[in-house]
Amino acid sequence: MKLLSTKATCNSHGQDSSYFLGWEEYEKNPYDVVQNPKGIIQMGLAENQLSFDLLESWLAKNPDVAGFKRDGKSIFRELALFQDYHGLPSFKKALVDFMAEIRGNKITFDPNHIVLTAGATSANETLMFCLAEQGEAFLLPTPYYPGFDRDLKWRTGVEIVPIQCTSSNNFQITESALQQAHEEAKKKNLRVKGVLVTNPSNPLGTTMSKSELNLLIDFIKDKDMHLISDEIYSGTVFTSPNFVSVMEILKERNDLKDFDANVSERVHIVYSLSKDLGLPGFRVGAIYSENDMVVAAATKMSSFGLVSSQTQYLLSAMLGDKKFTRNYISENQKRLKKRQGMLVLGLQKAGISCLKTNNAGLFCWVDMRNLLSSNTFEAEMELWKKILYNVKLNISPGASCHCTEPGWFRVCFANMSEDTLNLAMKRLKDFVANNNGEECSSNKRTRSTQASRSFSRKSLSNWVFRLSSRDRHEQEER
Ligand SMILES: Cc1ncc(COP(=O)(O)O)c(C=O)c1O
Repeated sequence: MKLLSTKATCNSHGQDSSYFLGWEEYEKNPYDVVQNPKGIIQMGLAENQLSFDLLESWLAKNPDVAGFKRDGKSIFRELALFQDYHGLPSFKKALVDFMAEIRGNKITFDPNHIVLTAGATSANETLMFCLAEQGEAFLLPTPYYPGFDRDLKWRTGVEIVPIQCTSSNNFQITESALQQAHEEAKKKNLRVKGVLVTNPSNPLGTTMSKSELNLLIDFIKDKDMHLISDEIYSGTVFTSPNFVSVMEILKERNDLKDFDANVSERVHIVYSLSKDLGLPGFRVGAIYSENDMVVAAATKMSSFGLVSSQTQYLLSAMLGDKKFTRNYISENQKRLKKRQGMLVLGLQKAGISCLKTNNAGLFCWVDMRNLLSSNTFEAEMELWKKILYNVKLNISPGASCHCTEPGWFRVCFANMSEDTLNLAMKRLKDFVANNNGEECSSNKRTRSTQASRSFSRKSLSNWVFRLSSRDRHEQEER
């Protein structure tokens, strides 16, 4: 008798990805300036630790809130008993106002259309459960956040079909890439239920242009599908161009009478306070949808991942303080900009460049193609291991984000101190200087043959196109 269920043991979770393996290696040997100065520096974790002092000073000025008091009186019992899965109305109002503030108040959100979830992880999975059957598919532009394999596919049995984006246009989505992904799904006999994008993008650290967003809306309108826009980094945009939410595009089209109520009911936003407020441990996420049926179904499902009532109480007071949120958003952006500048300069000094369009997120999409021994994913893995074990930096290889071109890495900059970032850059510079005489030269890359290109694509496609149905099948055979 099998001890565990097929679901519990199937490997579509993605835990064996280098993205998670890097974290494990870091945990075994974490850098500490005093205790372990030769340890691994964690640059594979998209955390924002730059503005904790702002949150802490607000807490210090508002001791009643953290002490679960209202007007000096304890509300501990009220909070301990509160269990309505619709969430605290005051928190939902404060959250939608914060979302509007991030978008320059160009649009407003109705608190009746929001569903609270335990982080964006839960929000994305809930939407999959609401919108697709097991074996149906969503199209996702590559490279994408490695956690999506777990969040979208693992428990739901939904499939991901990649929309192949390339460096030739800074990884922007094109109409032909969308059509191609749709064709690819058809060939695999998969019914496509929608497109899911992250805007700003993880791992690219870029915002989507209006034309990309319009393209997506036209596509889902034409194909009668859903569009999920994961806007978890919407307040983490530190330089121009500004962030444009898909909701703004819908409003613009509505104003121009180029509007279809059906379409806006098929567009859903995912949000969370894990990045913009730097609170991933609080597990606060949300789905915003104008579709009443989706809101009702997702609310029922949210029972499996609610936000605790003391967290809702604390954050309704914090986000309800408009002076605080306005200052936080702008100060946090300034700090992120400075930090990203430090990383870009440090990389430049090591002869490494990154995506020029990087204006958002907690990371840069870094081009290390000139450090590869050949233009293959094997060479990317080899380089990643050297950087992890010799240079002692954990960065995330493009393959873990399903990138189609070897040699790109996601490097985070906001989860450490400035000194640690400088040390990381020094380590990398020394590595590149010492490594130059070795096999990794751009000359060698230019020599890379067409054959190695097609080999790398083939080996990648095993990884990229692995379907959870196939995993299930393999599991059954075991
Ligand atoms: C694009 C994206 N979506 C969702 C998540 C999960 O966020 P949460 O901590 O709110 O579950 C992340 C976290 O890195 C992310 O980058």
